Amino acid sequence: MTDRLTITRPDDWHLHLRDGAMLAAVAPESARHFARALVMPNLVPPVVTGAQASAYRDRILAALPAGHDFTPLMSLYLTEATDPADVVSAYNQGIITAVKLYPAGATTNSASGVRDMDRIRPVLEAMAEQGIPLCVHGEVTDASVDIFDREAVFIETALDPLRRATPGLRVILEHVTTSEGVDYVRANDNIAATITTHHLVINRNHILAGGIRPHYYCLPVAKRETQRQALLDAATSGDPRFFLGTDSAPHPDKAKLAPCGCAGCFTASNSMAILAHVFEQTGALERLEGFTSLHGAAFYGMARNTGTLTLIRESADTPRQIDTIDGPVTVFDPGFTPDWRVAE
Ligand code: NCD
Ligand code: ZN
Repeated sequence: MTDRLTITRPDDWHLHLRDGAMLAAVAPESARHFARALVMPNLVPPVVTGAQASAYRDRILAALPAGHDFTPLMSLYLTEATDPADVVSAYNQGIITAVKLYPAGATTNSASGVRDMDRIRPVLEAMAEQGIPLCVHGEVTDASVDIFDREAVFIETALDPLRRATPGLRVILEHVTTSEGVDYVRANDNIAATITTHHLVINRNHILAGGIRPHYYCLPVAKRETQRQALLDAATSGDPRFFLGTDSAPHPDKAKLAPCGCAGCFTASNSMAILAHVFEQTGALERLEGFTSLHGAAFYGMARNTGTLTLIRESADTPRQIDTIDGPVTVFDPGFTPDWRVAE
């Protein structure tokens, strides 16, 4: 049995770092294990221009601990008013790595998202031409669609038409949670998907059976066990179209443990230990590196990291919470103690 596993330093292709005091509290957690992260733009107000992305990147860099080895990669929040020229210029200057499409109202801070897909056609066409990737929050927001069906309906009614109308556009289906999503990625070109840590661990029973557990509530909501198995199969298959995007999304406990609690699981601190455990349980420990460290960089056309991360077979308690000025943020509890820990 392997007791030490050294892999290429991982990247997190979907991360929420927030701003201000929360940014200061959570940025070191990601910087400890990850070389790069694609930072989501859903601040209040959102990061919609290249200039705002550049200023946000400066704030992130200022919040990192001395001697860190972490590069924030920026994304822009796509709105119906986004100027294609600004997107192209920000990309060509190396300020942004991708553009994020939130259907209006789909998730936390998505009120300025897109309502009418036709209005973003010129931006999408410019992106396809320039090779700028589009990250997609893949859920419809129609109140008449059941929350557990929103991803599958989005793929059929919004994602597929969007991709057909913009040939060559490179798309990442973010935090895929369904077999429909996995199958769609497998069946098409120019599309990949991120998979979160928590969706590989929990199904909807963990949220609702035997008491409601707000810390397991995130969007897209975790689905049936058969769907979790489909995600596990995709993540551990070695297929380069699937890679890690933790979607680590900190909310203070007081905002989670409320009559209308926020969506988001905070997994930056223990993702790598949990993933090593889960991959080993699935008999796929040798494919962990591809999922966490190689496939995403390849899809984004970036070099793989030169640094490494070492995991040691040793159970260790991870901190249960991170302290912030707004009170504690609870770290995702996988429901087991991982057999692995990251060598610090
Ligand atoms: C994210 C957040 O809190 O910003 N929440 C979540 O449940 N994943 C937003 C998102 O990625 O949907
Ligand atoms: Zn997210």
